[in-house]
Amino acid sequence: MRKQSFGKSTDGVEVELYKLTNENGMEAAISNYGGTIVSLLVPDRRGGFADVVLGHDSLDRYLNDAAYLGPILGRYANRVAKGRFTLNGVAYSLVRNNGENHLHGGLKGFDKVVWNARGISTDKGEALELTYLSKDLEEGYPGNMSVLVVYTLTEENELRIEYTATSDKDTIINLTNHTYFNLAGHSSGNILQHELMINADRFTPTDSSSIPTGELHSVKGTPFDFTRPTAIGLRVNQDYEQLAYGHGYDHNFVLNRGVGDSPSLAARVHEPKSGRTLEVWTTEPGMQLYCGNFLDGSIRGKGEKSYHKNQGFCLETQHFPDSPNQPGFPSTVLRAGAQFRSMTVFRFLTQ
Ligand code: GLA
Repeated sequence: MRKQSFGKSTDGVEVELYKLTNENGMEAAISNYGGTIVSLLVPDRRGGFADVVLGHDSLDRYLNDAAYLGPILGRYANRVAKGRFTLNGVAYSLVRNNGENHLHGGLKGFDKVVWNARGISTDKGEALELTYLSKDLEEGYPGNMSVLVVYTLTEENELRIEYTATSDKDTIINLTNHTYFNLAGHSSGNILQHELMINADRFTPTDSSSIPTGELHSVKGTPFDFTRPTAIGLRVNQDYEQLAYGHGYDHNFVLNRGVGDSPSLAARVHEPKSGRTLEVWTTEPGMQLYCGNFLDGSIRGKGEKSYHKNQGFCLETQHFPDSPNQPGFPSTVLRAGAQFRSMTVFRFLTQ
């Protein structure tokens, strides 16, 4: 594994960029700033490599990033309605950084902190171990929480992400990674021709501020039916209230398997020209499909390329949005002393 300087954070802390490689020529560059996946070189069906994730060339650009290009999100990825929740009879209020709602851990979430990092080599491949201690009431969350995230690049062309956390008080947790993929290459235009399969018969419809109504709605007969591989763009402009609310797809899918101990297949995405295919495996019960609806060309990404609407898609494996306020959703409570664990695998192949 190689390690190079990536600059200094706003607080003057040295930040590094770690490069994990495997025998097949894949390379994942990950920074300990936000645990961000900065680049990911993946072969196509002819063996040509492209960088398939959106990102920036320099740390400075990440410091000002508002689009969450590639980082770990926490303590609560996605939204908590009005930033409020009650736990053990105590009301907590979180930072409201998305209209009235709390989004992706707040103003300085896990995506904007410098993690302690250590490169290790495992029997599965090169790995990067990231740790962070989130103090009691950071961004409003109860409990001192210690978090460990391990990224491993395997010889099976997988990037595995394993999350572990403990807290000294009862608290809530929902961790994910917010990488935007474009399997034709990060600057190759929109992802509307990518064919997507999601292993979900239901999704969680929302109100106009993207807060789930609590209903688990069947995807049958809706533009949210990805049970068979379908081009992402085929129905994205249909006149359908949920698409209007999300400015396209920005919704959580209820994965058919539910919470599991070992990862199961959540989604498969195929890009016809390059032949690259991404499979997402996870232990989590949900997955947010977000298609870069808010990218408006104002972000200059790697190689000074502007990122426009729909130029990348995110498959954010997670618990459902606003679970702390939805008794019917799988629980996101982490009890004091208990261990939170989850795993997501991004597996690359060609077809
Ligand atoms: C998530 C949210 C979106 C948006 C993006 C970042 O995917 O669901 O609404 O906030 O992050 O722009």
